[in-house]
Amino acid sequence: MNVYIQKKMIKALVVYASFTGTTKGIAEILAADLREHQVEVLIRECTEVYPAEYLENDICVMATYTYGSDGALPEEAEDFFMISRRSISQERSLEC
Ligand SMILES: Cc1cc2nc3c(=O)[nH]c(=O)nc-3n(C[C@H](O)[C@H](O)[C@H](O)COP(=O)(O)O)c2cc1C
Repeated sequence: MNVYIQKKMIKALVVYASFTGTTKGIAEILAADLREHQVEVLIRECTEVYPAEYLENDICVMATYTYGSDGALPEEAEDFFMISRRSISQERSLEC
C-alpha cells in the first residue's frame, strides 16, 4: 500500500508601501527569499490588498517607507496597519 502525505505549504503575505521604490525592492527580496524556502508568497502594495487577508496567512510582513521628520508612517500604511490590527483582534476574540 502506498501512502502519500501532502505537506501543507506555509503561506506568507508581504505588504509594502513605497514612494520611490526602495521599500518595494526590499519586499521583493524578502518574497524571493521566502520562496526559496518553499513558502507560498503573495506580495502586494498596501492599497491593493484587504487587511483581513492577513488572517489567511501563516506569515505576515508589512514594510513601509517614512518621509516624515519624526519617522511617522505614511497615511496609506497607517490605514492598512490600523485596520489589519482591528481584524486580527476581532478574529482572536471570536476564537475565545
Ligand atoms: C524628506 C525625507 C524625509 C525622511 N524622513 C525619514 C524619517 O523621519 N525616518 C526615517 O527612518 N527615514 C526617513 N527618510 C528615509 C526614507 O524613509 C527611506 O529613504 C526609504 O527607504 C524610502 O523608501 P521608498 O523608496 O520605498 O519610498 C526620509 C527621506 C526623505 C527623502
